[in-house]
Amino acid sequence: MSSSTVVTNIAALVTNDPSLGDGSPLGLIQDAAVVIDGDRVAWTGESSKAPATDKRIDAAGRAVLPGFVDSHSHLVFAGDRTQEFNARMSGRSYTAGGIRTTVAATRAASDGELEANLTHYLAEALRQGTTTFETKSGYGLTVEDESRALRIAARHTDEVTYLGAHIVPPDHAHDPAAYVALVTGEMLDACVPHARWIDVFCEKGAFDGDQARAILTAGQAKGLHPRIHANQLSYGPGVQLAVELDAASADHCTHLTDADVDALANSRTVATLLPGAEFSTRAEWPDARRLLDAGATVALSTDCNPGSSFTSSVPFCIALAVRDMRMTPDEAVWSATAGGAVALRRTDIGRLTPGAYADLILLDAPSHVHLAYRPGVPLVSGVWRRGQRML
Ligand code: NIG
Ligand code: FE
Repeated sequence: MSSSTVVTNIAALVTNDPSLGDGSPLGLIQDAAVVIDGDRVAWTGESSKAPATDKRIDAAGRAVLPGFVDSHSHLVFAGDRTQEFNARMSGRSYTAGGIRTTVAATRAASDGELEANLTHYLAEALRQGTTTFETKSGYGLTVEDESRALRIAARHTDEVTYLGAHIVPPDHAHDPAAYVALVTGEMLDACVPHARWIDVFCEKGAFDGDQARAILTAGQAKGLHPRIHANQLSYGPGVQLAVELDAASADHCTHLTDADVDALANSRTVATLLPGAEFSTRAEWPDARRLLDAGATVALSTDCNPGSSFTSSVPFCIALAVRDMRMTPDEAVWSATAGGAVALRRTDIGRLTPGAYADLILLDAPSHVHLAYRPGVPLVSGVWRRGQRML
């Protein structure tokens, strides 16, 4: 039998249900309570009206919001790239070439080392409020190494993405077409059982629009759903391709034409912005305001990986998005919770409404706005995942 718990005396409860509370997209209820029953939310509303439950927790005037949905990370890897980061901070620019360093370290690592690394970064993310995460392969780039990365990832999340098309590995540099054939053939077959999504890095120096289309449609034919690394380092066809294929998400979206923004605004494809990457590559920020004003759905995620964005912290990304990408605190919090859920085409996470998973964060602050207002401060003081208290 499941037991029920009420968290009462919440100064501000973010539900992400606009029919509740203040009627904003965050559906903010003041002086609120939330009832958890088993792994689900059973009730939300004003504290004074909360039903009787087995257990009661006093939030003591702090804020509660849905757990973060980090819909873009690369956590199956070995080694790090401290030297590359150091070189960048002394003026060198980011190129995708550094991916090769991580591919070599990942291929050389044992399954146990990869899994220990993954669980280390997951624990780190959980402490910062992430209750759902997507993660990818992409540092193996052989049939064996890609499928083992996905097998390991699938032990920890349902949101697993096959990214055999991260770069053309050095062993195939002489014949990229043969690598695309491998990615859409034998490697795809080995990876399909472990993945829900297929991704491609569509960029100069990685895969062009035609290659990306061939890779994503091959995945779709085997039942995987597309998402794309698009328009990160330069303008290109990635966003248009994402929309054409009804991809759940176009990720990065740093270099967008007006036509790209229009295409996103008139589609179901989410623009997932990854400010950790611009922070740690000293690149220009994606223009979240332009996307939001056009009516596009925006998600915010970490892109956690050892090359371009070595942060597992969604709160850090929220602070960057507010300060440097012209998002309001409300928009950034929505994008890191409900937005991530839309980017994963999920309705059971990213919101605190009856029937949704009881994934929630208690902040050591009276409002979700403090996530941006108090950057770098570890405000996450409680985490429930699927109704279980994790922190
Ligand atoms: O999303 N852009 C492609 N992939 C990663 C970076 C990977 C790396 O540098 O190791 C990204 O930023
Ligand atoms: Fe990425």
